[in-house]
Amino acid sequence: MSEELLVSKIENGTVIDHIPAGRALTVLRILGISGKEGLRVALVMNVESKKLGKKDIVKIEGRELTPEEVNIISAVAPTATINIIRNFAVVKKFKVTPPDVIRGRFKCKNPTCVTNAPREPVEPTFYLVRREPPLFICAYCGRYHELGDLL
Ligand code: CTP
Repeated sequence: MSEELLVSKIENGTVIDHIPAGRALTVLRILGISGKEGLRVALVMNVESKKLGKKDIVKIEGRELTPEEVNIISAVAPTATINIIRNFAVVKKFKVTPPDVIRGRFKCKNPTCVTNAPREPVEPTFYLVRREPPLFICAYCGRYHELGDLL
């Protein structure tokens, strides 16, 4: 069944398309969208896709997500396309890509890293050191992390 038969087009907001089948809920969790924000969100799971066989789609009405916000989902949805919708038209389309730097979102896995010390208010920071597959290094202790380890 086509996605159009399941959910209609949105007027303004963001459509995350070409999510690997079955990962839409994980994408929402990573984006921190729980439903409690009051945003209208539509989820389409396991619909036909020419490129992927099957895919998931997330439609968020009334909020334009920035590349910085969505690039983090590249760990679970590297194939995702982000469409910004205004007045029912796609005005921007971009593919997710691993972020060059991630600040403040995730904890370093090294228990002795200064960012994990109880009285050190240091913001965890990770730099991208390899793009394919994405690998990050902690700016403080040098521990390497795959994006999947951080999530
Ligand atoms: N979409 C939507 N509401 C709109 C416009 C588009 O929900 N007002 C959705 C479409 O249903 C589709 C995605 O946004 O899932 C991208 O739309 P579009 O670029 O028109 O589709 P395609 O050309 O098929 O996209 P692509 O080339 O990225 O596969």
